[in-house]
Amino acid sequence: MAIRFILSVSLGLWFLGIGPSPGSPALSAGLSWRNLSCPACRALFTVLDIALKFNSNVDEVAVVASKLCVRLKLAPQDICVQAITLFKHDVITAWTESVLKPSEICGLLLGIACGHWDIYSDWNVTLPDTPKPPVTPPKPPSPGSPVTRVLFLTDIHWDKDYIPGTNPDCQDPLCCRKGSGLPPKHRKGAGKWGEYSKCDLPLHTIENLLQHLQSEHFDLVYWTGDIPAHDVWHQTRKDQLRALSTITGLIRKNLGHIPVYPAVGNHESTPVNSFPPPFIHGNESSTWLYDAMVQLWKYWLPEEAQETLRKAGFYTVKLKPGLRLVSLNMNFCSHENFWLLVNSTDPAGQLQWLVSILQEAEDSGDKVHIIGHIPPGLCMKVWSWNYYRIVNRYEGTIAAQFFGHTHVDEFEVFYDEETLSRAVSVAFIAPSVTTYINLNPGFRVYRIDGNYPESSHAVLDHETYILNLTEANERDNPKWVFLYGLQEAYGIKTAFPVDMDNLISHFLLDDRLFQRYWFLYHKGHTDQPCQQACKTATICALRTGRAGDPALCKDLHNKLTYRETQSLWRQRRMC
Ligand SMILES: *[C@@H]1O[C@H](CO)[C@@H](O)[C@H](O)[C@H]1NC(C)=O
Ligand SMILES: *[C@@H]1O[C@H](CO)[C@@H](O)[C@H](O)[C@H]1NC(C)=O
Ligand SMILES: *[C@@H]1O[C@H](CO)[C@@H](O)[C@H](O)[C@H]1NC(C)=O
Ligand SMILES: *[C@@H]1O[C@H](CO)[C@@H](O)[C@H](O)[C@H]1NC(C)=O
Ligand SMILES: *[C@@H]1O[C@H](CO)[C@@H](O)[C@H](O)[C@H]1NC(C)=O
Ligand SMILES: [Zn+2]
Ligand SMILES: [Zn+2]
Repeated sequence: MAIRFILSVSLGLWFLGIGPSPGSPALSAGLSWRNLSCPACRALFTVLDIALKFNSNVDEVAVVASKLCVRLKLAPQDICVQAITLFKHDVITAWTESVLKPSEICGLLLGIACGHWDIYSDWNVTLPDTPKPPVTPPKPPSPGSPVTRVLFLTDIHWDKDYIPGTNPDCQDPLCCRKGSGLPPKHRKGAGKWGEYSKCDLPLHTIENLLQHLQSEHFDLVYWTGDIPAHDVWHQTRKDQLRALSTITGLIRKNLGHIPVYPAVGNHESTPVNSFPPPFIHGNESSTWLYDAMVQLWKYWLPEEAQETLRKAGFYTVKLKPGLRLVSLNMNFCSHENFWLLVNSTDPAGQLQWLVSILQEAEDSGDKVHIIGHIPPGLCMKVWSWNYYRIVNRYEGTIAAQFFGHTHVDEFEVFYDEETLSRAVSVAFIAPSVTTYINLNPGFRVYRIDGNYPESSHAVLDHETYILNLTEANERDNPKWVFLYGLQEAYGIKTAFPVDMDNLISHFLLDDRLFQRYWFLYHKGHTDQPCQQACKTATICALRTGRAGDPALCKDLHNKLTYRETQSLWRQRRMC
């Protein structure tokens, strides 16, 4: 019996992304949702499967699940109750509609090392018969060529209940807010402009950023989602829509004359990560969200883009002659989108659609920028391998890829599929606007080749700006300052795939350079150096454009096994 309860709790909380607190009985029992072991996963899902066959009363299961959540100290009581109330319906609907066996589910969630699954074991996008054109790597532009400046905003995470002075180290998954209580005597309360803790941002910090940006020059804005805060245990649809319209309104007010191209993050929905593909109809579908996005974003997007956005949260736009943008809905690649248990074969046909757009672009000699929220290396394995194949086939067309979601400053290099040695593309991952967790607020500016006939539209350089929270709070005077530029910090000439691959090799040879990367990775706020296992995992992540591929980090594994690297790497993700 007990296992059944643990299971329901674990399901909800795992999808919620809430782990047990240190020292809780759940942890000593080895239950940690982030590194759930393969046998545990199978046992869990086997029991849930049986439990649901005998007792389909969702509410009954939920009541007991809440009790167990409290008893195991997985989260404070009110959070247990609210989280389970929020999750029970969608998770259980998705589960009962799915036809996966426990081993298949665990394979899906934890990678093929944990059992292969027969039904959705594999799917391949179809590439057109058109042969791949010969590859001509980008060349540095001649001096004085025009450069496009793209402002990149990601993971704003506005906390409408942020209250300066409250406890930054509360029990809840998100602090510095209504309900966090007051800090202990020796501890300062949450800062006015934000806090180095598990806290998101108050509106005035976001407003301050956008006002600051008014005085800068940008040609375009890419904005890759995660608008609401991390108080995922009690968010209503109304809360999410309010965050969407408030932040969109602020961006329009401050940057309105500049075109803005958004992508959908995993926090836009509620329950978090819940993005049913279009085969789910009715009230459970994402219509409530996508319709609002079309209403709020139509000012920036042409009709055809609005159509696909309304259907499934992705779109394409012709930005200028020779350049297209594709905005992907990466929730369709996510391990945490439990709707994919129902059917994870190219959800919404998004990748097949991407192929058709890329072929069209190739035929007309256009370049393409891809933006999205979750970086491809963090996707479900099959999705990510298909995506890798597409990037390989269209390496001459895809000029750049941009993502967010991890909140830290990193990148993923893609290699040729045949030898895994020639760098063919880079997914840049920009740091978050929010402080969550323990970071300075920040934003990114990309300097991109163009716009002129025959320009590569590739990234030449990027700049990262931060708000130094220590200073902002001490002086009550927020200043957004330059943290570093890619070329200058690492002594490279461009940010082409080959440069970024060389940079990884330099990190391996030059520990000082790597420690510099580690400092910038956290937007200039980290106390600990990254050595040995941490370094291996961090560098492996830079090579991992596709999920679950031990071959990409082969030469790093004399120190750590592939499994250890993956597990370390997963633990660091906060998102
Ligand atoms: C999960 O991770 C914790 C540390 O984060 C570790 O102590 C524990 O052994 C891991 N459990 C499993 C089952 O891998
Ligand atoms: C997908 O492609 C891979 C590699 O070409 C192949 O091994 C696999 O059998 C294919 N799977 C399906 C379902 O077609
Ligand atoms: C649709 O679902 C939402 C969230 O689950 C709920 O609040 C709302 O009442 C539902 N509406 C209808 C008409 O069922
Ligand atoms: C899953 O979706 C794919 C693509 O839409 C479809 O071809 C397949 O038949 C679906 N599988 C099931 C079991 O419904
Ligand atoms: C932020 O400000 C503090 C206090 O002035 C300083 O010690 C720290 O080095 C600054 N951080 C960065 C990244 O500039
Ligand atoms: Zn985020
Ligand atoms: Zn995210």
